[in-house]
Amino acid sequence: MIPDDQVEEVRARADIVEIVGDSVKLKKAGREYSGLCPFHEEKSPSFSVNPAKGVYHCFGCGASGDVFRFVQERMGLDFVEAVKHVAGRAGVPVREVKAGRPEEEDPRRPLFEANAFAQKWFRDQLLDPQRGEVARRYLEERGIDEETAERFGLGLAPDEWHGLRDAAAAHGITEDLLLQVGLLTTSEKTSEPYDRFRGRLTFPIEAVGGRIVGFGGRIIGEGKPKYLNSPETPIYHKGQVLYGLHRARHAIRRDEVALVVEGYMDVVALSSAGFENAVAPLGTAMTEDQARLIRRYTGKALLLYDSDRAGLKASFRSGDALLAQGVHPSVVTLPEGEDPDTLVRALGPHGLQRHLNEAVDILDRKIQILEEHDYFASLDRRRDAVDKLLPTLRSTADPALRDIYVAQVAEKTGVQRQTLEAELARAREDRVQRQLEERRVQLPARQPAAVRARTMGPEFSLLRVLARDRKRRHLLLEMALERVGPEDFKDPGDRAIFQAFVDEPELEVPPPGMDPRVAERLTSLLAEPPHDEQLAHAEREFNAAVAALEAARLAREVDEIQRRIEASTDHEEKLRLIQEKKRLLQERNAQGLQGGGDYARRLARGYHQQD
Ligand code: UTP
Ligand code: MN
Repeated sequence: MIPDDQVEEVRARADIVEIVGDSVKLKKAGREYSGLCPFHEEKSPSFSVNPAKGVYHCFGCGASGDVFRFVQERMGLDFVEAVKHVAGRAGVPVREVKAGRPEEEDPRRPLFEANAFAQKWFRDQLLDPQRGEVARRYLEERGIDEETAERFGLGLAPDEWHGLRDAAAAHGITEDLLLQVGLLTTSEKTSEPYDRFRGRLTFPIEAVGGRIVGFGGRIIGEGKPKYLNSPETPIYHKGQVLYGLHRARHAIRRDEVALVVEGYMDVVALSSAGFENAVAPLGTAMTEDQARLIRRYTGKALLLYDSDRAGLKASFRSGDALLAQGVHPSVVTLPEGEDPDTLVRALGPHGLQRHLNEAVDILDRKIQILEEHDYFASLDRRRDAVDKLLPTLRSTADPALRDIYVAQVAEKTGVQRQTLEAELARAREDRVQRQLEERRVQLPARQPAAVRARTMGPEFSLLRVLARDRKRRHLLLEMALERVGPEDFKDPGDRAIFQAFVDEPELEVPPPGMDPRVAERLTSLLAEPPHDEQLAHAEREFNAAVAALEAARLAREVDEIQRRIEASTDHEEKLRLIQEKKRLLQERNAQGLQGGGDYARRLARGYHQQD
């Protein structure tokens, strides 16, 4: 058994929302969270979790209980196992007592204890009136007040070789342990272990459960290296921890977005400015493990990397990792030379918020960059652009988002949707290819024709099919109008031509009053030969064009809603908008699934009947 006081401690420290959230997708609704009940089949959520009371309840099947009950039911564990599981997640040590004898211990426990000791010692050094004075002044200069420093557990590793080592020895913590967690190190010159962190501000790095797994140390003032980090140890794996997540997780869930920044100071500065949802991967780009951690709390991330080349590259790499875990990333472009820390200090919270509001969807940002480098100016370069966009499409795990992305790339590059899909499917089958994601992907052999077609884009494509087929134009229009309207044509000339067909499906010459240049375009379209033998091709072209236009519209609508969600300060309204966005994504998804076949059949029947 586990002593009661320990069970209660675990219950108090456990985050029931987090633990239930591992297997149930939860949405905040007032003070509670709700989702689809994991204990019975249901289509609309009747399952709710109340974090204040630490309980869950399902109005559908009556399942209810506390965090231990949930783990027992969900994972098929007995009570003691469930308490241990939750304790592990909450970072609370528990000792099972069996016939008066403590159960075998977690072998990593002493490592956490060594870190906990170091943390306390570093903190004491910072608070020491004399020893900590310079460091405290440095923090003050950087705008970090005492409360924030305390909250993040900042400390000071004094500029001494054996400060920590001696203090730890006095507490019975062995050198071997300190070496194992990387707090002591040795060099070629001396086998005598010495303190790794010297003359640095220390930042404890916590796992999501709150246990300290490692440290970062910043030099006070100028010097190299600027930051020193714990090495890989049995409890610290750099790519698996997100700095700040333990503290930020509730805010991330509440705000429904995570701010991803590069460094320690950014997380701390953002938090002290009221942005409590910031985390840092502490490397250049985010790993998929780190992205998975974010996914537990939210489906959305804003990337706040430097605006230089390296930062942009890291944004895209992180973006792909996030997409692969089903998190939708957007890029916040910071003014050159600024990082979130300097920016929020210069502009204040509102100034930073304005930048956050201007976040651009990761794929849009990629397209913008390609555009800035003239990638859409020539055929060859467009082809390169497709190659550069494919990894992002391929990474995107969320089918609805992926669909929208494919449509967007199709529209932007003019490559037919099917060509992109085929390329994606092919690459998916080819595992080796997948591992070589960063490298240039070869397009299929029949690409040249597709490249030629795509330079025209879906608007032109649709108009051409309509123009070439006067006899069946009314049928084609009828089908097209079920899904798109003239307003979905971005180019005013193309829109006018489409409108002309809608007004007069049988037209053979441009209507009177049409802008002469547009009329000229329409005349040349009408001069194209009818595509009698190319029925299948026409079908494909028609379907792809309609689908691309429709997807582009839905993408715009989703963007618009997203903007409103981000701008909204009203909780209820936000929830409604999120629902609305979800509905749009589902709609898109459903249409993507049923799209082609049905239309192709009707179109074929139309040809058949009328020929
Ligand atoms: P930056 O060089 O952008 O530093 O490195 P910063 O976070 O803005 O730090 P301040 O504001 O100058 O104090 C970003 C992150 O990269 C890692 C650290 O995690 C840092 O926070 N880094 C940087 C290192 O690990 N070592 C280094 O020498 C430099
Ligand atoms: Mn900085």
